[in-house]
Amino acid sequence: MKAELTQKFLETYNHEVTSSYFTPGRVNLIGEHIDYNGGLVMPCAVTMGTWLVMAPNSDKVLRFKSLNFPEETAIELKKQYTKTGSEWFNYPLGVFNELLKDHEIPTGLDMLFYGNVPIGSGLSSSASIEVIMAYALNDYFNMGLEKIQIPLLAQKVENEFIGVNCGIMDQFAVAFGEAHKAIVLNCDTLKYKIVDCELGDYNLAIVNTNKPRKLAESKYNERVSECQEALSNLNTEIKLHNLCELNYEKFVLHSHLIKDETVLKRATHVVKENDRVNLAAKALNSGALEEFGRLMYASHQSLKDLYEVTGAELDTVVDFCRDYDHVIGARMTGAGFGGCAIALLKKGMEEDFSKQLTDYYVKRIGYPVDIYISEIGNGASAI
Ligand code: GLA
Repeated sequence: MKAELTQKFLETYNHEVTSSYFTPGRVNLIGEHIDYNGGLVMPCAVTMGTWLVMAPNSDKVLRFKSLNFPEETAIELKKQYTKTGSEWFNYPLGVFNELLKDHEIPTGLDMLFYGNVPIGSGLSSSASIEVIMAYALNDYFNMGLEKIQIPLLAQKVENEFIGVNCGIMDQFAVAFGEAHKAIVLNCDTLKYKIVDCELGDYNLAIVNTNKPRKLAESKYNERVSECQEALSNLNTEIKLHNLCELNYEKFVLHSHLIKDETVLKRATHVVKENDRVNLAAKALNSGALEEFGRLMYASHQSLKDLYEVTGAELDTVVDFCRDYDHVIGARMTGAGFGGCAIALLKKGMEEDFSKQLTDYYVKRIGYPVDIYISEIGNGASAI
């Protein structure tokens, strides 16, 4: 990909590339909607991702072009920027805006992006482009940011510039992922372990429901505020920084403080999901894949019934998997409201799975899924 993009850069800008970067997308194995509640999550980077090639220019202009979108822009190098419209280049522009608060950017840049993470599919195409921009600027201008500051800055861009109150999971996974490994990340302390992701006779299949994620951002922010409401209800009696400080056993001692039925359901999911990740980490560590798969199904059920972020398309995929002999666990991954599910699929069954699931899904939903057999890849790097 790098060679092709480098050639395109030359054709587009009439000068040579000086630096090239790659960042992946991610899937989350388990631990959904708990990163912004200080929970434990278990994401890994995938081999699909974002590429950026760039070179300085002498006219103090930032030029953003992508092979994925017709929209492009050239913006004068300033001290600050605001989001305009919903075009893709707002993500990297937000990174410039954030970095310019504390760092000088001495030259303009010509940039060409390309990504093969399906957009809006819940595989973190936005975290991938935010992190690549932060990684590239830090590297190119020797800004001296530590590795952990890159995902934190990218998250800030998503929260403040883009307006989605996401947690740290996606940006962290994209920056810190390692091939064949999962990350067990405590989103409260940011302590993490890189663990082997040995799936034995199984592959990780990613199933894209191809459902357009309309209104997903406002529904996401609504869930975040429901969790904040639960926390402040609980804090009338106890002192917590976040919901995941309680396990389910302790939570039920105080849950009467949450009077709103919907808010109670949300908080119950959060606390139980965090308990499940603890169990899942142990199961993965001891090679108990069937137990891991069982926890994946339980996670999906909770996201359906208590957190209400799945929808007919994701449920149809997971329903199929439950009855399909060669899958031992499946669940939605990411924010939900459409997007992707993941499944632990017996090696060798890819073609059969794809055919049968597609038939089943088309009959019920009216259009096909896309299926990718995923490799776990590396995090952000210069290439
Ligand atoms: C999105 C957000 C993450 C996380 C997941 C749900 O991917 O960006 O921070 O909250 O949803 O687990």
